[in-house]
Amino acid sequence: MRRALLLLIAACGLAGCKSTPPPVPLEQLNAQQTQGHAVFQTHCAVCHYDRQSGSLHGPALIGVFKKPALPSGAPANEDRVTDTVLHGHGLMPALGNTMDPQDLSDLLAYLHTL
Ligand code: HEC
Repeated sequence: MRRALLLLIAACGLAGCKSTPPPVPLEQLNAQQTQGHAVFQTHCAVCHYDRQSGSLHGPALIGVFKKPALPSGAPANEDRVTDTVLHGHGLMPALGNTMDPQDLSDLLAYLHTL
């Protein structure tokens, strides 16, 4: 039983699960993640959904770090997301001069809960 579960998890990791686990409920976020949620509301929510799928101006960020790749095909890791936020990407404007490093690390902590 345990072995079957492990195999399933391994298969998910390799093939990419169709359904990713849901975001951590807001009331269960720690202090930094809660702060990151506020940063998201201020800087990202006008263009991106965080807790539901579907595009607003940009793609939904639900499960962003649970998927192997970003919509552009770039790897879904902190470096790429940071780069996207600081320098923009395609139609997304650069936001580097609107956020300080603390905002950015709080934001990343929140994005990991999605
Ligand atoms: C003015 C609207 C706007 C704002 C504000 C905005 N984005 Fe975006 N974002 C976009 C658009 C449009 C795209 C799609 C870009 C493209 O592929 O041309 C995008 C794409 C992305 C992507 C996917 C990049 C890829 O490689 O596929 C990520 C991740 C992202 N945004 C994160 C964020 C985060 C985090 C914030 C807040 C700090 C944010 N965005 C704020 C419009 C916005």
